[in-house]
Amino acid sequence: MKKIYISGCGGMLGEAFYEVFGAGNLLKCTDIDVNAPWLTYLDIRDLDAYRKDVADFSPDYLFHLGACTDMEYCERNPENAWRTNAMAAENAAYIANELGIPLLYIGTAGIFDGHKQLFDDWDTPNPLSCYARSKYAGELFVREHVRQHLVCRGGWMMGGGPAKDKKFVQKIMRQLAQGKKELSIVNDKFGSPTYTHDFAHNVKVLLETEYWGVYNMACDGLTSRVEVARAILELRGLQDRVAISEVPSSHFREEYFAERPPSECLVNAKLKLRQLNTMRHWKVALKAYLDDYYPQA
Ligand SMILES: NC(=O)c1ccc[n+]([C@@H]2O[C@H](COP(=O)([O-])OP(=O)(O)OC[C@H]3O[C@@H](n4cnc5c(N)ncnc54)[C@H](OP(=O)(O)O)[C@@H]3O)[C@@H](O)[C@H]2O)c1
Repeated sequence: MKKIYISGCGGMLGEAFYEVFGAGNLLKCTDIDVNAPWLTYLDIRDLDAYRKDVADFSPDYLFHLGACTDMEYCERNPENAWRTNAMAAENAAYIANELGIPLLYIGTAGIFDGHKQLFDDWDTPNPLSCYARSKYAGELFVREHVRQHLVCRGGWMMGGGPAKDKKFVQKIMRQLAQGKKELSIVNDKFGSPTYTHDFAHNVKVLLETEYWGVYNMACDGLTSRVEVARAILELRGLQDRVAISEVPSSHFREEYFAERPPSECLVNAKLKLRQLNTMRHWKVALKAYLDDYYPQA
């Protein structure tokens, strides 16, 4: 039984961490959005409060999940994006070092510029947006200052279901629930879907080995937004009833104006070389996600 402090645990990924790590460990889960009875309030930007809350719990590990994940919000509110995504990661690094405990930081595939198709753990990031730059700054600080660190980089996150998923799958599921008969989907963006439960489980496997460092951690298989949308329609038996209209990303430039790389496909090279990759193929994980969170009547 280990004691784990998980900050920023109220979101898509936090919900999976609560389930996966809750079995057999003692957790303290916090967030600024206290949306579940197992969460308490903590703002990761507030170093003194963060330090005191973690020290009072005296954990074996600190998991730092919190971030501003809305890319357009980050462009509009760069000061808060930098405070939350970069400076708060520095706070977590100080605290982990003061307590002499390992730190988990969640990185993102979005730090790459997409000027080639695949990115392994050793490729050089070149972040394009405020979100990506601030997340990469957090990653670098953790890597440089915490000896026992894990930086696990996720791709297009899927998880949390209707209540918590803020990303692509939920946007599609919402339109289907509204009875839409045609979906406009961008055909020029490629990436690696990442099921939150697979991610949390693979973090657990990695943590047990104590191979500290940076790891790409996305589901297997490279894909596009169009292919994910088609897979959702097929899994729901809607492929003959709902049409997909392929559009360039410029079609959504007013709504999604933050710069996104054409490809953010991750290869989990290090996990595979260490024979620790437990991430399933994205299609298998997508089916599991829909079955678990969007049960059909
Ligand atoms: N979503 C993705 O596609 C993706 C991909 C790769 C990596 N990641 C990383 O994965 C981690 C978890 O993100 P997620 O996917 O679970 O997104 P999420 O659902 O937005 O969860 C992030 C949580 O952090 C909270 N938070 C924001 N500012 C905070 C603060 N000052 N103090 C404490 N908590 C704060 C958010 O609250 P509010 O909702 O109130 O802001 C939210 O509950 C993040 O580090 C993110 O960068 C995400």
